[in-house]
Amino acid sequence: MSDPKLQEKIIDALKTVQDPDLHKDIVSLGFVKNLSIDGGSVKFDVELTTPACPVKEQLRTECETKVQAIDGVEKVDVNMTAVVRSTEHSQPVLTGVKNIIAVASGKGGVGKSTVSTNLAIALSLTGARVGLMDADIYGPSIPQMLGIPISSPKVGSENKFFPHEKFGLKVVSAAFLTKQGQPLMLRGPMLGGIIQQFLQNVEWGELDYLVIDLPPGTGDVQLTLTQKAPISGAVVVTTPQEVSLIDADKGVKMFQQVKVPLLGIVENMSYFVCDGCNKKHHIFRQGGGKKLADTFNIPLLGEIPIIESIAEGGDSGIPVIMADPGSPASLAYKDLAGKVAAQLSINQANSGEKVSSSFELAWSTEGETDAK
Ligand SMILES: Nc1ncnc2c1ncn2[C@@H]1O[C@H](COP(=O)(O)OP(=O)(O)O)[C@@H](O)[C@H]1O
Ligand SMILES: [Mg+2]
Repeated sequence: MSDPKLQEKIIDALKTVQDPDLHKDIVSLGFVKNLSIDGGSVKFDVELTTPACPVKEQLRTECETKVQAIDGVEKVDVNMTAVVRSTEHSQPVLTGVKNIIAVASGKGGVGKSTVSTNLAIALSLTGARVGLMDADIYGPSIPQMLGIPISSPKVGSENKFFPHEKFGLKVVSAAFLTKQGQPLMLRGPMLGGIIQQFLQNVEWGELDYLVIDLPPGTGDVQLTLTQKAPISGAVVVTTPQEVSLIDADKGVKMFQQVKVPLLGIVENMSYFVCDGCNKKHHIFRQGGGKKLADTFNIPLLGEIPIIESIAEGGDSGIPVIMADPGSPASLAYKDLAGKVAAQLSINQANSGEKVSSSFELAWSTEGETDAK
């Protein structure tokens, strides 16, 4: 028999548990579900907005401690669950995808694909359903990084095709549309055609997160995608040097112009820790990513060190997060995934209105120019 007084006390106690990201208590947020009281034994679910929630264990402990302290409670069983919320949009593409995360950079070689790959796997390891779109049409490196041999995608009905699958991710890449080792030579309109295929012809199924590895810079592909794909948020990757930061700054401004919300900056190759000395060596200078984030008043989502195993993972086809999940490099990517997912949830909570949907096009995609 459930004691109504006890139930009230439990709810009151849970009303004092705040979600530190959403700045509300978990009862008002509707996270507490299936409360059952059997004598002194209490059970309930806490349903978060993402399984990648960085404060999941902290919330569980706080719930347990606070409910356990109530007179008459002997045992507390908290079941942490998550249902990923969708970022609302009205574009008629990628409708089964709840959140689209674009990973961009001002220049090539800063580690954008490495971040995209490890971020996507980190999200998927939390239990989320994740896809990875390699939209770097001229330099597709995702198949190599995931160790997927080049082969044509499986074709379904109505010209649709299925993503490749690896490490729990659904993956599409322009590399699968070419013969192995052959460069893809495209003019503007053909390029648009490929992007259109990626957006309309892929059988993604239901996804919680789709990570898009954009080409570096602010060219045709980026513009087409930022206009035609309902991107929920963008992550800009930079290294700490001035040359990279200047271009990253342009990347941030591009997203601002097309009204895609910025999730934050990732500073890659932030520092190097050599064997035995344990000191952080800031090879490419220090603090650039933070400065950039501060300039635009957006979060610095992570500082990823230069680590040999990250480069090795990229070359071997087994990303570091799979090869060595407990390593400092993998922990850095898991931390990043938590921050990215949390930032999406924060944006959703803050916007009663639609995000990145039918905004005014800042550029026309009619009669695209030749690719540079
Ligand atoms: N944090 C890191 N530590 C060591 N090597 C890295 C790191 N990030 C990326 N790399 C390596 O740097 C090279 C460029 O990275 P990549 O992700 O391909 O860059 P981009 O996609 O921006 O061109 C790759 O060989 C990759 O393995
Ligand atoms: Mg790349």
